[in-house]
Amino acid sequence: MSTPSRTVRRLAALEDAHIDGLADVLIDCVEGGASVSFMYPLSREHAVAFWRQVAQGVAAGQRAVLVAEDGHGICGTVQLVLAQPDNQPHRADLAKMLVHRRARRQGLGAELMRAAEATARACGKTLLVLDAVTDGDAARLYERLGWVRVGEIPGYALWPRGGLCGTTYYYRELGG
Ligand SMILES: CC(C)(COP(=O)(O)OP(=O)(O)OC[C@H]1O[C@@H](n2cnc3c(N)ncnc32)[C@H](O)[C@@H]1OP(=O)(O)O)[C@@H](O)C(=O)NCCC(=O)NCCS
Repeated sequence: MSTPSRTVRRLAALEDAHIDGLADVLIDCVEGGASVSFMYPLSREHAVAFWRQVAQGVAAGQRAVLVAEDGHGICGTVQLVLAQPDNQPHRADLAKMLVHRRARRQGLGAELMRAAEATARACGKTLLVLDAVTDGDAARLYERLGWVRVGEIPGYALWPRGGLCGTTYYYRELGG
């Protein structure tokens, strides 16, 4: 899971330094206009609080967090929500795919997706689900990687600086 200039790995636990780097990536994505649950401006305190909550999920075995690191630190991340209802043990949600603007358009998004799918398989998951802003950069990435488009919910969320955007749901079967 690596190229000469960067590595992608699953974190066994989120330490303070990881949380700091992950907060940087999240703040950068929101500043860049990504609709990823937060409004602009996103304070460091709010971003750190989000990642601390994620850290608890990782400690409890409910989530898997993957990070990509380059010479400057964490430059990308993606999560799997492993904890699901009793009747969906084979499923995980893929969430918070974030690549810092400094590292985009170099294939890192695709690398993180492949690594997340491999992690899901290793965790015994055979079905993944995600949602993305309709017709956005991420939706294009998922479709290129073979995710199946389910449908759109118009006006689902706000852009970070206001205005509604639609979301599109996708799934991917990992069997075979
Ligand atoms: C969506 C996102 C994760 C994609 O990350 P990325 O690392 O740029 O993804 P990739 O590099 O794999 O692919 C992006 C584009 O770069 C192109 N690309 C990949 N490697 C390349 C290379 N070596 N040279 C030139 N272009 C390249 C891909 O073909 C793709 O092109 P397209 O957008 O025209 O389809 C990133 O834009 C992001 O973090 N956005 C903000 C947060 C967000 O919206 N997250 C999604 C939540 S659902």
